[in-house]
Amino acid sequence: MSRKTGILISGRGSNMSALIEAAKGPGYPAEIAVVISNNLDAEGLKYAEEAGIATAAIDHRAHDSREAFEHVVDAELREHNVELVCLAGFMRLLTAEFVDGWRDRIINIHPSLLPAYPGVSIHERVVNDGVRISGCTVHFVRAEMDMGPIIAQAAVPVLPDDTADTLAQRVLTSEHRLYPQALRLVADGRVRVVHERVVFADPETESAPLYVPALRGNTR
Ligand code: GAR
Repeated sequence: MSRKTGILISGRGSNMSALIEAAKGPGYPAEIAVVISNNLDAEGLKYAEEAGIATAAIDHRAHDSREAFEHVVDAELREHNVELVCLAGFMRLLTAEFVDGWRDRIINIHPSLLPAYPGVSIHERVVNDGVRISGCTVHFVRAEMDMGPIIAQAAVPVLPDDTADTLAQRVLTSEHRLYPQALRLVADGRVRVVHERVVFADPETESAPLYVPALRGNTR
């Protein structure tokens, strides 16, 4: 059974595109029902429209409060019978009320190995700190920013000559691999949250959403 999924974006939408492409594959357990952006000019909206997916641009600035904005987003998701929500570069903080309404049915991708480096300017901070391994994380969303039970992580090497941009690109490539796999696990019901940790249905599932760094040469 294919789970109807909504994606929230704010910009480029490359993770959204990766999810849309994955969902076209045979037997993929999620179907992208709607893409919603809080930014009317988000590039990702065009891609979704061209892929024949319903889109909605809901300008957060046109609403008096966070709650009022989220109310419209929530109504749009429900209108499309959405069961799962993926945040894909959605750069608005969500209220506890919204998050609780979608508890354990809303996931996010973040370009670091959480709980390290939450927030913004991640790759600059990683490079400046001289960290050797970075990566990305898919997690269930909680009201605290970039927090919540971890579903999947990919490790990515930080190379000596990296800039924030070169590292961002390498991490992004791993995000595009990881997010579709993580959504597959959630949509298949192969992961669940117990005492705020993700529990996997079987040993095969347990090792699926984990990547280790590749050596220089096959990482770019
Ligand atoms: C991605 O790197 C994503 O992990 C990050 O924003 C970028 C969006 O790119 N998200 C966060 O930092 C959330 N805290 P995209 O629009 O091309 O998917």
